[in-house]
Amino acid sequence: METAEIRRRFLEHFDRNGHTVVPSAPLISPDPSVLFVIAGMVPFIPYLTGQQAAPWPRATSVQKCIRTGDIEEVGKTTRHGTFFQMNGNFSFGDYFKEGAITYAWDLITRSQDDGGYGFDPAKIWVTVYQDDDEAAALWRKVAEIPDERIQRRGLKDNYWHTHQPGPGGPCSEIYVDRGPQYGPDGGPVADEDRFLEIWNLVFMQEEITDVKSQEEFRVVGELPAKNIDTGMGMERVAYLLQGVENMYEIDQVFPVIQRAAELSGKRYGANHEDDVRMRVVGDHVRSSLMLIGDGITPSNEGRGYVLRRLLRRSVRAMRLLGVDARSLPELLPVSRDAMGAAYPEVKSDFSRISGIAYAEEDTFRKTLQTGTQIFDLAAGQTKKTGEVTLAGDTAFKLHDTYGFPIDLTLEMAAEQGLAVDEAGFRQLMAEQRDRAKADARAKKIGHADTSAYRELREPGPTPFTGYQELNTDTRVRGLLRDGATVPAAQEGDTVELVLDRTPFYAESGGQDSDAGRITGDGTELEVLDVQRPIKGLIVHKVRVLKGELVSGQDVLARVDPEWRLGACQAHSGTHVVHAALREVLGPQALQSGSYNKPGYLRLDFAWGQALGRETRSEVEEAANLGIRRDLPVSATYMPLERAREIGALALFGETYDEEVRVVEMGGEWSRELCGGTHVARSAQIGLVTLVGEGSVGAGSRRVEAYVGIEGFRYLARERTLVSQLSDLLNVQPDQLPERVARLLGQVREAEKKVNQLRASALGAQAAELAGGALDVHGVAFVAHQAAAGGTADELRTLALDVRARLGNERPAVVAVAAEGGNGRPVVVIATNDEARRRGLKAGELVRAAAQTLGGGGGGKDDVAQGGGSDPSKIADALGRIEHVVGENVTHGS
Ligand code: SER
Repeated sequence: METAEIRRRFLEHFDRNGHTVVPSAPLISPDPSVLFVIAGMVPFIPYLTGQQAAPWPRATSVQKCIRTGDIEEVGKTTRHGTFFQMNGNFSFGDYFKEGAITYAWDLITRSQDDGGYGFDPAKIWVTVYQDDDEAAALWRKVAEIPDERIQRRGLKDNYWHTHQPGPGGPCSEIYVDRGPQYGPDGGPVADEDRFLEIWNLVFMQEEITDVKSQEEFRVVGELPAKNIDTGMGMERVAYLLQGVENMYEIDQVFPVIQRAAELSGKRYGANHEDDVRMRVVGDHVRSSLMLIGDGITPSNEGRGYVLRRLLRRSVRAMRLLGVDARSLPELLPVSRDAMGAAYPEVKSDFSRISGIAYAEEDTFRKTLQTGTQIFDLAAGQTKKTGEVTLAGDTAFKLHDTYGFPIDLTLEMAAEQGLAVDEAGFRQLMAEQRDRAKADARAKKIGHADTSAYRELREPGPTPFTGYQELNTDTRVRGLLRDGATVPAAQEGDTVELVLDRTPFYAESGGQDSDAGRITGDGTELEVLDVQRPIKGLIVHKVRVLKGELVSGQDVLARVDPEWRLGACQAHSGTHVVHAALREVLGPQALQSGSYNKPGYLRLDFAWGQALGRETRSEVEEAANLGIRRDLPVSATYMPLERAREIGALALFGETYDEEVRVVEMGGEWSRELCGGTHVARSAQIGLVTLVGEGSVGAGSRRVEAYVGIEGFRYLARERTLVSQLSDLLNVQPDQLPERVARLLGQVREAEKKVNQLRASALGAQAAELAGGALDVHGVAFVAHQAAAGGTADELRTLALDVRARLGNERPAVVAVAAEGGNGRPVVVIATNDEARRRGLKAGELVRAAAQTLGGGGGGKDDVAQGGGSDPSKIADALGRIEHVVGENVTHGS
C-alpha cells in the first residue's frame, strides 16, 4: 500500500468518526525553545493544556516532524529517520481511553478491502503503563487481546511527554510481530526490532514541569480535561505494508537510494557500509527538501545549522560512495517526485528549494577544498611534533570557520593515523553555545521563567488600540522587575509594565516597537521597548522620568506621532518593495524575513544571484511607481483559509491563528498576512531609496532601503558628496566617472614606474656588491647588511641578483641580512654551483648564521633563509658565515 494511501485511509477513518482534519503545521516549532515539531501533538499543545479553548472537540492530522537527536543512527537501524510523518487523532476533553483504543484497533485490523490496514490481530501486541489496569481491561474487552500479549512497563517506556514543561500522561503502545526471523520471542519487552512499535496512544492527563529526563519530572497537577494524543509512525506502517525491510525502502524514500546507486555504480544490498551511506542520502535529501520547503535556509546556528548538517552529510556520503561530481541536482528532483503527491508545494516551489540546496552543495565543495588544506597542514604539524592527537581547537576551527562536521574531521584524522581531542572540541563548542545564549538573552526583555507574565496574562490578552488611536486612557495592570512582579517603581527606575489596553505596537512581524510617553498624576515614563514575551501579553519596558509609578494607577499612553508615521511608512514601504521585487524578478522572489523602523527597512528574499545595478534600479523604480499611484491600503480580517484562497502572502514558518489580518495595497498588487501598522494610501510613504543589496546565506538576498524623509536625506547627502568631488576635481558631475577612471590609470602608471626604478636601484646595488666581493680562500664572498625594514623576499631578490653577477667560474657565496619590519633579523644565503661542488651549502651556512642570531632556519643547498631574535648580532652572524666558508671550503681541482 502506497504511503499516500495509508495517509488517505487514516484521515478518512477519523473524519468519518467525527474528527476535524487539520493540515500539517510547518516543521518549525511554535515554541522558540525547541527547534522543530517533534510530534503530531506539538501544534495542539495549547489545547491539551487548556491554555486555549480547542476550536474542535476532536481533530486528526498527518504532521511533518523532524528529530535529529539520533542522526548518527540513520541508516544503521531499520527505523531511525530524521524526517517522518506522524498520523494522529486527538480528543480535547471528549472521548478518552476507550475511544482511542477502539478507533485504533478498528483501523489497523479492518481488512484492506474494507478501508483498513488489514494487520493480523494475532500478531498485535500492546503495552500499558505499569498500573493502568483500565487500559489493560479495555484491550481485553475491545480487542479481545489475550493477557499474554498485553505487557506492562514503567515510566521509561510508557509515559509520554515532550521533555519540556507541558502536558504528559501514561501511554499504551501498539506493536506488530514481524516474525521469529527478526528476533527472539517474548514481546516488545524482549525485542523491539522484531516487535515493531507502530502507534502510541497517550492518555494526556497531567501537567508536568522540571523535566530532567524521561523519568525525572514533577507533576504540577491534573490537566483541566482528560485528552487523547495518539501518534502512528507512518513510515513504519508503510514499510510493514509495503513488504520491505526498513523505512528507507518505502516508496517516499527508496527512489533516491536507487538514484544514488546508479550514480555511484554500486548495488544497493551488496555491502553494509555502502548501504548505510545510501540510506543516509535517502533520508537526508528528503529531510532537506522538506525543511527548505518550510522556509529554513542553511546557516551556522539553530534550525539552519541542522539543515546545513543534513545537506553536508548527504554530500559527504555521496563522496564516500565515490561520487565527486555535484550530486544534489541528481537526487533532489527524485525526492521531489516521491514527496510531491502528499506535499504539492515541494513541486510548485521547487526552483526556490533547489536553488538553496544546490548553492549549499557548491559552498560545501569549496569548503572541503580549503578546509582540507587547513586540515593537512595541522595534521602535518601534529605529526612533526611527534603528537598523535589533533588539537581540539583545530577541530573547532575546522567546524566553526570551514563548516567541517566533527565526524568528517574524525574520519580524515583516522585516515592519517591520528586521534582528535574530542573533549577539547566539545568544550569549545559548549563555550561558544553559552556565549550565544547569553547574547540572545541580553538582547530582549523576557526571562526564562515566564510565570509572572502568565499571571498578568490571566485576566485576558492586552487589547491593542493602536490601529485606531495613538492616545489611550488606560490603567497599570502590573509591574515587573527581573521577571518578578513589584508594586511600584521610582524615578530613575527601569521596569516592565503591563497596561489594561495599549496603543503601543509590540515588536513583531518585522516592525520595531513604538516609542512614546506614558503619563498620569505627576508620573512620566519613557517607553524604551515593547515586546510580547508570551502570546497575547504586551509588555512595555519603561524608564520612570518623573514621579512614582504604582500598580493600579490610571495613566494616559501616548505613542509619539512622528515615530508612528515613520513606522507606518517603513512597514508599508516593506510591502511595496516586496511587491516590486516580485514584479521585476517573478513570484518566486518571496520574502523570508524583514525588519523595519522609522526611516529604514530591510527585507530578505529567496533569490540565488546578486541583483545587478540595472535590476536594482528597476526594483526601485517599480517601488516608487507603486507609491506614486497612491494606492489605498486596507486591512481586513478573514479566516486563514480564505486568505490563502485569495493568495495572501504569508511568511514561511510563522504559525497563524484561524482568523488573520490581510493588508492589501492596490488589491492583488500587494496582499500579505500582516499585523503591522500602515499608512492609509501608498503616496504617504513618500520615497523608497535602495541603499544596499547582498547575500544572507545561500539562496537568500537582502535589500536595504531608506524610507520617507530619510530617503530624501540620503539622496541629499549623496548630492553633496558629488558636488564636493566635482569641485575637487574641477569637472561637471556627469564627467566624474571618466575623470576618476583617468586618475586611476595615471596612478597605476606611476606605480609601475616606481617599481621599475626600485628594480634598477636594486640592480645598481647588486652590481656594486658583486664588484666588492672578497676573496675568502678562493671563494668570492659577499656579505651585506641591508637597511632595516626590508622583507625576506627583497633580500632574496638581491642575493640572487648578486650571485648571478658573480658568475660560475669560481665558487661564490652571497649572504644578505637585515632587521625585518617586525624587528627580528632575517638572513638569506645563496651559493653558486661551483661553491656547492666545494662543499658550501646554503642550508648549512644559514643554520650557522641563525645560531648566532638566536634562531633557526633552513632551505635548499642553493638558497636558504633563516632568522633569529637579536638584530644586534647581524654583523657577527655575517662574520660567522665568512668564517665557516673559509673553514669548510674544499679545494677542488
Ligand atoms: N505524542 C506521542 C508521540 O509522539 C503520541 O502522538 O509518540
